[in-house]
Amino acid sequence: MNAPTQSLNVSLGARSYPIYVGAKLLGSSVAAVLQQALPNAGEQIVIISNATVAEHYLKTLTDGLQAEGVARANIFHALMPDGESYKSLAIYGEIMDLLVKHRLNRDCTIIALGGGVVGDMAGFVAATWQRGVPFIQIPTTLLAQVDSSVGGKTAVNHPGGKNLIGAFHQPSAVVIDIDTLRSLPERELKAGLAEVIKYGVMADSHFFAWLELNMAKLLERQPDALEHAITRSCEIKADIVAADEHENGIRALLNLGHTFGHAIEAATQYKTWLHGEAVAAGMVMAARLALQLGYIEKNHANRIETLIKNAGLPIRPPKNISKQRWLELMARDKKVKQGKLRFILPTGPGRANIFSNISNEALTRLIDTL
Ligand SMILES: NC(=O)c1ccc[n+]([C@@H]2O[C@H](COP(=O)([O-])OP(=O)(O)OC[C@H]3O[C@@H](n4cnc5c(N)ncnc54)[C@H](O)[C@@H]3O)[C@@H](O)[C@H]2O)c1
Ligand SMILES: [Zn+2]
Repeated sequence: MNAPTQSLNVSLGARSYPIYVGAKLLGSSVAAVLQQALPNAGEQIVIISNATVAEHYLKTLTDGLQAEGVARANIFHALMPDGESYKSLAIYGEIMDLLVKHRLNRDCTIIALGGGVVGDMAGFVAATWQRGVPFIQIPTTLLAQVDSSVGGKTAVNHPGGKNLIGAFHQPSAVVIDIDTLRSLPERELKAGLAEVIKYGVMADSHFFAWLELNMAKLLERQPDALEHAITRSCEIKADIVAADEHENGIRALLNLGHTFGHAIEAATQYKTWLHGEAVAAGMVMAARLALQLGYIEKNHANRIETLIKNAGLPIRPPKNISKQRWLELMARDKKVKQGKLRFILPTGPGRANIFSNISNEALTRLIDTL
């Protein structure tokens, strides 16, 4: 049994790990990856997933592990209900109860099988069970494949805010099986594309141009196009994480479109807009603000907007947010430093920068043009 060819690596010294991107990886390949990444792991494995994803993929994964003799009879399943509201301390507690009940020990391995909700929960469980055990990410949404499974941010929500309780805990490997995207609802696919577009806008003008040419193929889920887009996105994220693991500097660039996006999510009570949709409209707002302030050319702002539109994503925020409410919502975003709003704005094709000097007047002018 050989591990599949590694697609890329997240370089973090002793905490470095491989990312595999390809088709048909969910079966026995995961067993090989596990043995390679964690040769000294014990025999206990806990697969954390949810009912929606489990129905499609849990059996393939479990059979693949068992066929290769990994964790012979010691694979436990912890299924959480499907939905962001279950990324909670209550569900975290239930999973911990299960680990206690089955007497999971310190050399167990956690596997996250699912989207970002499952990945964030499983990662936080792995970060805290017995002060930290290894875990493998098997992301099954496009958003999780290009974003949340890479970089080691893990968290659960608190009624007072999203992701308030968490830890940095890097996975030992990330296995991205693009076949899992076949069952992903169309709207979730498009929401993931928003983060893919983000990487092109902020870090790679060639990739941006490639996306302009290949958006239709991505929407049709052509495997080669998906594999390229996911690999390039992960490379960009991996490089940034390697340079700034704990977000003290350039990792903040990954928040392009997110200050506006978070405001849209909050204004709509996290109900009607998916995160990626809010980020899409947020990126258009960031591009328009950059244009207004003279940081980018009109042509570039237009290209960003057109690409987002061609991905089937919203390019305008909801109409019913008042100017006052916008300012309040953005002031609440945790990216505020010393009273000044911090924005990530594009500064040219494949480039973005952090600006902490954006005035309320500039924002008001932007909001007036929406
Ligand atoms: N840790 C990080 O760095 C980071 C980064 C970005 C987002 N996040 C977190 O990620 C979460 C959002 O993740 P998401 O967008 O993946 O949402 P999600 O996990 O809720 O998944 C979206 C929906 O798709 C379903 N699904 C998942 N895979 C499927 C598949 N292959 N086929 C069919 N259905 C499938 C899920 O059950 C769910 O209903 C948020 O909680 C966010 O805070 C974390
Ligand atoms: Zn995001």
